[in-house]
Amino acid sequence: MGDSNENGERQYHNTNSAYVLPNDAREQDRLDTQAAAIVEMLGGAPFLAPFEGLKNASKAVDVGCGTGVATVQIANKIPSAKVYGLDISPVPPAVQKIAPGNAAWAIGNVLDVDNKESEGEACQEIFAPSGLDYVFGRMLFLGLNDWSRYFSIASRALKSGGIIEHQDLDWAFYRVASSECLSDKWEWYQAVVSGLKKAGLSTRSGSGAAQLMAEAGLEVIGTHTFEFSFVPSTKTPNSQAMGRYVQAKLLPNYPELLRKILSDSGASEEEIKRLSEQCLRDIVSEEGIHQKYTVTIARKP
Ligand SMILES: C[S@@+](CC[C@H](N)C(=O)[O-])C[C@H]1O[C@@H](n2cnc3c(N)ncnc32)[C@H](O)[C@@H]1O
Repeated sequence: MGDSNENGERQYHNTNSAYVLPNDAREQDRLDTQAAAIVEMLGGAPFLAPFEGLKNASKAVDVGCGTGVATVQIANKIPSAKVYGLDISPVPPAVQKIAPGNAAWAIGNVLDVDNKESEGEACQEIFAPSGLDYVFGRMLFLGLNDWSRYFSIASRALKSGGIIEHQDLDWAFYRVASSECLSDKWEWYQAVVSGLKKAGLSTRSGSGAAQLMAEAGLEVIGTHTFEFSFVPSTKTPNSQAMGRYVQAKLLPNYPELLRKILSDSGASEEEIKRLSEQCLRDIVSEEGIHQKYTVTIARKP
């Protein structure tokens, strides 16, 4: 997979997923940098689930695994398990090459696992009822447009005692060390939220997970919230790397991301340009401005 095609355009998946971001080499580099910043934000570990209970696990999945960085970490943590990395786009061959032998890769849309025609045998095998010890999903908010269905699929596929860990963002902007929401009054923000809603995407994939997991029959055993900083602040020392990553690698993607979301909801070129300028000004308007990142962990009774 190259960085762009011969016209210099970014490369995207060609599946029925609602996912709006590219899948090229530049995107893979962004995802790996983001993964490292998340580990720092969480205090040094990529996962917060109780792994001590997973010592004899036999099967796990990293849903929407991207470059496979977390899949490899899970495979190293639970060597007894076959650990699948599932994504709508292929994992880079270089990662597949260095991954431990208990990692396995599958291509498919997690929301289509019951559709035997469109999804292959690997998906059927991964989500067979009561077979999984651990389901991990991180930063899937721009890809999944039916969260109730997602947690029901995961719940059905987990063994009794199996664990699900979901890490995701709420798509709103807050003042540092407070719950004061800054974005509700921004014009461009309202336009983007309405575009996301039209695409069936949620702006509360982080904080909304616990309730949806409970509705899917899972017992929530922990929620932890972190500040995913857009501008580094000494008040959020664990989010310094995050702020630097956002400045260097996430914000350059914003104009294209906003263009996709806003043009799908019918905004004119001029309108998109005006709203994008507002956005790029507002989201770096003060130190420590952040989105809320929630880690939710639940167990199948
Ligand atoms: C923002 S990336 C996060 C990647 C990885 N979880 C991480 O944290 O590094 C979201 C990933 O989810 C994948 N994705 C989006 N919709 C999906 C779907 N319906 N089924 C499976 N994967 C999906 C995308 O292709 C992308 O690789």
